[in-house]
Amino acid sequence: MRVGLLTGGGDVPGLNAAIRAVVKRGEGEHGHSVVGFRNGWKGLADGDVMPLTRQHIRNVLASGGTLLGTARYHPHADDGGLDAVLATLEAERIEAVICIGGDGTLHAASKVAEAGVRVVAVPKTIDNDVWGTDRSIGFDTAVTIATEAVDRIHTTAESHNRVMIVEVMGRHAGWIAATAGIAGGAEVVLAPEEPFDIDRIVRFLQHRHRAHASFSIVVVAEGAVPARGTSMSYETQVGRFGEIVAGAIGERLGAEIAERTGFDTRVTVLGHVQRGGTPTPADRILGSRFGVAAIDAVTAGESGVMTALRGEDVVLVPLADIAGKVKQVPADLLETARALA
Ligand code: F6P
Repeated sequence: MRVGLLTGGGDVPGLNAAIRAVVKRGEGEHGHSVVGFRNGWKGLADGDVMPLTRQHIRNVLASGGTLLGTARYHPHADDGGLDAVLATLEAERIEAVICIGGDGTLHAASKVAEAGVRVVAVPKTIDNDVWGTDRSIGFDTAVTIATEAVDRIHTTAESHNRVMIVEVMGRHAGWIAATAGIAGGAEVVLAPEEPFDIDRIVRFLQHRHRAHASFSIVVVAEGAVPARGTSMSYETQVGRFGEIVAGAIGERLGAEIAERTGFDTRVTVLGHVQRGGTPTPADRILGSRFGVAAIDAVTAGESGVMTALRGEDVVLVPLADIAGKVKQVPADLLETARALA
């Protein structure tokens, strides 16, 4: 069987482990030939094909990024995009597609599957907000990087008696903020799941600095928002088209805290450093497990499903079940972050 493989959406560490697993298992165990499409669904629509053999996946297990390239492109949202995808598949005699991506890529996967193509998806996102799976590829590495950053910020915060705001990624869910906040011992963790009250934060910081501390760390997810009706305006961190503007909430929060408390305050926006570099062992293992499960699923004739981690097991879940849902941080995890402040 000829199987097409693509990576879509933002890159994450661990994608190459998944690609390697699909190729090794596909060629070795099942005798398939695997071809790659460059730059996500766009490459599939444009017929931008590359061979993917064992030679192409040598020494990629520990490397970050994606050897296939990636893009944010949704064929169903583009006039003629879906037809172009179907035409490429026919021209290249591809019988099944494996796509590795986050919510946008998975949504496209369900549309392509609905059009009659055999599609199996693999979840990746550092945000860890894909519904239906306990973990997505890339999350563990991002938390490791963010935790190290918080640790490093601690020492300089303490030396200078400062309030340090660390903005991490997470547009719709605060998984990185909550976990790196707990692991790094942040005093305040702010996530999109629970809109915050700036007055409470200011009171808390003032009390803490009066009582026993001369520095504080605030970890804020880029998608965190002030609660409506509180004294910080709501619109300031969304862009012209309603999208989250990275750095906006961190900078705004830093300015508000500095103004209201008089504390020396600095802002660090971690940004894409969270998505770069070497994957952790956990992401290499997850990518490898998902890759094997995906090619096995395709071989077994599955379609319209996504590989998922449930506890210790890799299972398949219908793409239809996850569409339009965001896996939010459970309240008890946010409560743990609060309890340890
Ligand atoms: O969706 C994953 C993510 O890393 C988000 O956390 C972040 O908001 C976004 O991608 C950044 O996207 P881009 O790489 O297009 O700037």
